[in-house]
Amino acid sequence: RAPVATVVIQPDKTSPVINRDIFGQFAEHLGEGIYGGVWVGKESKIPNVRGIRSDVVAALRAIKVPVVRWPGGCFADEYNWRNGIGPATKRVETVNGNWGNVIEPNSFGTHEFMDLLDQIGSEAYINVNLGTGTPREAADWLEYMTTDQPSALGKERAANGRKAPYRIKYLGIGNESWACGGNMSADHYVEELKQYSTFVRNLNPAQDPPHRYVRGPKQMQRIAVGPEDDKPEYTEAVMKAWQSTRPWRWGFEGLSLHHYTMGATPMSSPATGFDAQDYAVFVQQTFGMDTLIAQHAAIMDKYDPEKKVAMVVDEWGTWLGPMADTNPRFLKQQNSLRDAILASLNLNIFARHADRVRMANIAQMVNVLQAMILTDKEKMLLTPTYHIFKMYLPFQDAQLTPLTLETGTYRSGKIGVPQVDGVAAQKDGVVWLALTNIDPDQSVSVRTSIKGKAVRQAVGHVLTADKIDSINTFDRPAAVAPQPFSAKAEGDTLSLTLPARSVTVVRLDP
Ligand code: AHR
Repeated sequence: RAPVATVVIQPDKTSPVINRDIFGQFAEHLGEGIYGGVWVGKESKIPNVRGIRSDVVAALRAIKVPVVRWPGGCFADEYNWRNGIGPATKRVETVNGNWGNVIEPNSFGTHEFMDLLDQIGSEAYINVNLGTGTPREAADWLEYMTTDQPSALGKERAANGRKAPYRIKYLGIGNESWACGGNMSADHYVEELKQYSTFVRNLNPAQDPPHRYVRGPKQMQRIAVGPEDDKPEYTEAVMKAWQSTRPWRWGFEGLSLHHYTMGATPMSSPATGFDAQDYAVFVQQTFGMDTLIAQHAAIMDKYDPEKKVAMVVDEWGTWLGPMADTNPRFLKQQNSLRDAILASLNLNIFARHADRVRMANIAQMVNVLQAMILTDKEKMLLTPTYHIFKMYLPFQDAQLTPLTLETGTYRSGKIGVPQVDGVAAQKDGVVWLALTNIDPDQSVSVRTSIKGKAVRQAVGHVLTADKIDSINTFDRPAAVAPQPFSAKAEGDTLSLTLPARSVTVVRLDP
């Protein structure tokens, strides 16, 4: 008999909205993340619009990417925005010292990034350079992008082809300042943060506060560097400083958290061909994201009990061993059904913390780490992780709905993790349920009910495959792809049979 789990959904209990920005992406100048993956140049034979490849744009449009973080990552703290503007023939070549010491052609700069956002229908999360840059440079970049005035920088933008100011929803102030962003102590970073948040202004009249002293959700949200994994120093120091400031002096609206899932051998765990024990380690570590968020949220609560400051998990995902025959500094890795399952667990965790976690950006969008898309010259494929983002579309801006889940335990060696994980949400009166069967070997039958109502049927999609390490390849691009799923109630009981190693997202019809 298949193991059994029960799910009870309580749609009448109030709970926060799952911010669509938790489905955000991260695109860094790293390996083929931009060059080859997004940008092929206007002269390329690969179909493109103004140099941006059309197959990738179509795929990203389909998952309604809400926000893209750019240009890094570590790259951001060495980026000079001036290298990335002006006529293509005049762009200087620099060296990308973080990621393989390869040439950075700077052909993809501010205007090209904003064009990408226009093409995919997404918002900008610009990370300014606090490591090797200055507040002056960052302020100039913001003025260049956002002023509607005929200042020298405003005129320069217009001369480069863009008259109207750009909209910037989020501004990252430094990146991992505790490591590649400058190896700064938390106290030192706080002093830098004060300078940047004082001087770096968004001048777009549609975003500039009507009154200087008032900031609201429509204004650009500034994201401060927060913790590395479970280390509390940055969270403590940055939030303490936030509490003691007067918002009209300096401030920020979000605190970043970075955490990668790396398995037993960080940065070299196999992407395929792993065993059950290795899989269990990854699942257990993924549940660690919940502990991590709770730990830092508790520190934030001390200084900000009203939860004004968002927690922003702007780098997350698996960090595995590199693909054969690739530059190891390009961080190009395979993406299997395991990655899809882990992505669903992470998204469920972010959703459950919707009161504090209001943006997350998976690392990274194309060809880097846990990517949505892999390309090889003119070829492109959608990874299993991509399909999770597509299946979870109904959860964007839906209201989290309390769910009680009783499930067994999946065991491998000394590790035991819940067999099933799930999250529910409602939008426009419709209840959606996402259920992950973590067990790689056994299907699970889930009795599902909505408090006070009988559920008649469930309709949606399921993602599974022959093996937990099944992947999509250019020869078999749909080996791991969602299939239609439906179940009808018998009497007043709706049972969903979740295949082994699967993610199911359904609409529940009462
Ligand atoms: O995503 C790859 C790198 O990981 C980023 O550049 C950096 O911020 C992190 O250490």
